[in-house]
Amino acid sequence: MTEVLRVDPIDPDPNAIARAAACLVAGGLVAFPTETVYGLGVHAFDRRALARLFAAKERPATDPLIVHVPGIDDVTPLVAEVPREARALAARFWPGPLTIVLRRSIAVPDDVTAGLDTVAIRAPSHRVARALIAAARIPIAAPSANLFSRPSPTDAAHVLADLNGRIDLIVDAGPTEVGLESTVLDLSQDPPVILRPGAVGIEMLRAVIGRIEILGTSVTGSAAMPSPGLLSRHYSPRTPLTVYDGDARAALHALARDAQGHLDRGSTVAVLAFAEDLPQLALLPVTIVHLGREHEPAEVAARLYAALRESDEVGADAIVARMLTTDHAFGAAIRDRLRRAAAGRIVRVEG
Ligand code: TXA
Ligand code: MG
Repeated sequence: MTEVLRVDPIDPDPNAIARAAACLVAGGLVAFPTETVYGLGVHAFDRRALARLFAAKERPATDPLIVHVPGIDDVTPLVAEVPREARALAARFWPGPLTIVLRRSIAVPDDVTAGLDTVAIRAPSHRVARALIAAARIPIAAPSANLFSRPSPTDAAHVLADLNGRIDLIVDAGPTEVGLESTVLDLSQDPPVILRPGAVGIEMLRAVIGRIEILGTSVTGSAAMPSPGLLSRHYSPRTPLTVYDGDARAALHALARDAQGHLDRGSTVAVLAFAEDLPQLALLPVTIVHLGREHEPAEVAARLYAALRESDEVGADAIVARMLTTDHAFGAAIRDRLRRAAAGRIVRVEG
């Protein structure tokens, strides 16, 4: 059975942290909060624990893991070298929601890197995560603590819903703050490439290290290889989600028209709705799931995964949502996750 240890998010009980750390050191599977989403931690050098982790998540072995460390000084044994850019980025963004991919050392097991010659590393800022990593005194490999292809967990209840009975322990410190996974930046390529957008936006990164590309928008013209694990169908609710992309008014109009079409055919509809759209949706007999204010993207980011899970739970036949249009460091990350959650069902609306 999975045990749940409740701790204070700011000032976690050292005894609870020590128990969770001992569980990790002994090869256990421990879910814990980071500032982004809950992670499912294991000893990064314990191959049996790694095998249990992939089985518990039903995650394919081709999807590499992020190794969590206290800070840049702890990266050295994991990598071939620590480039100057990595130090500059860590000085600016660590601890925090930035993962960097570097050429790995021989010490890192293939199970962590999916056989790649690189390893992804980050230093989370959540106090519970930091306390746990410090107490365990080992590098902790941790993917998001959800079943593969489900939305990442932003609350311990989400972890339990997906993994109860499959993992040893959940350290529950309440909802996470950021709500979307870390930005993944590959520093093993020149120029560096953003493999996954997150709270640390491209302009923030460029301000520190200059030229950076985004996966799939390479200006060299070479066909970009998708990052392992960054599948086009990911973070998905089980009910089909359709996302309407374009000018806000036109997209909302198309969404409402299609929702009405579903209703006319006797289907039920859930709408993932921005606060700004609520007045216009008021007369439609649909279930509204609140996404927060479009003009406060940090609010949308913090709500998105819980909203995707809720929209599934209402048992509608279809889920519809409008694509976020606002510009913000979070904007690219939110659009990326909505696109993946829709698994290709994107309706482009001319404004
Ligand atoms: O915010 C986060 O990053 C959370 C928390 C728990 O730290 N973790 C997380 O892990 O989102 P996960 O496993 O769900 O996503 C990690 C992704 C992988 O799917 C993969 O695409 C990429 O990071 N990744 C890991 N190692 C890589 C490598 N060596 N090269 C390229 N991409 C890598
Ligand atoms: Mg994940």
